[in-house]
Amino acid sequence: MVGVAGRLDKILHNMCSIHHLLQNNRDWAQSMRESVPEFFTKLSGQQNPEYLWIGCSDSRVPANEIVGLMPGEIFVHRNVGNVVSPSDLNCLSVLQYAVDILKVKHVIVCGHYGCGGVRAALEDKRHGLIDNWLRHIQAVARSSSRELTGLAPEPRYDRLCELNVLAQRRHVCETTIVQDAWSRGQEISVHGWIYSLKDGHLKELSKPLVNLRSLEEVFQNCASG
Ligand code: CO
Repeated sequence: MVGVAGRLDKILHNMCSIHHLLQNNRDWAQSMRESVPEFFTKLSGQQNPEYLWIGCSDSRVPANEIVGLMPGEIFVHRNVGNVVSPSDLNCLSVLQYAVDILKVKHVIVCGHYGCGGVRAALEDKRHGLIDNWLRHIQAVARSSSRELTGLAPEPRYDRLCELNVLAQRRHVCETTIVQDAWSRGQEISVHGWIYSLKDGHLKELSKPLVNLRSLEEVFQNCASG
């Protein structure tokens, strides 16, 4: 009987620990309605965001909050390590919808210092299925191995977080989606930003890429572009 009672306690506890999310939701919806009465009516009709955010899944880096945007203002894709791979249909579909249909003006690839995905990519040990995904980040480390091996462990970790942003941003620019959009004269700026968990600040890693020429210039000047 003790075992059954224990299990029941656990089930009840789990119900309580999730139920407050639904209550939070009701409170949030009510406060939104009070401050902007037409908020949900307007937004349910259409979305018209100017920005696409490609960031890490890390719970400490929520896109909307850290750039002060409301629902409807930023289209978001997140995965472990903010990776952009030309074989990832999920990310490419988000990018295509954002560029071709929503016609966003800015694509922001945002990484963060202290990224668990980047740290795991640097470690020489098994983490499970995710190791296959982390190979994308390991490829970045390999291509910048000369710069990275000259650094102490912590600066190397920070620098790979930065280089990963720049590499994934380049992958965005190399997709047929962005290349075609630039070719037909559509204005899209592609940004590389990094977020500090320590002070909540975003930093721009290099100036935005705005057309095919700016991508080529960065390629020539710096392999990590
Ligand atoms: Co991360």
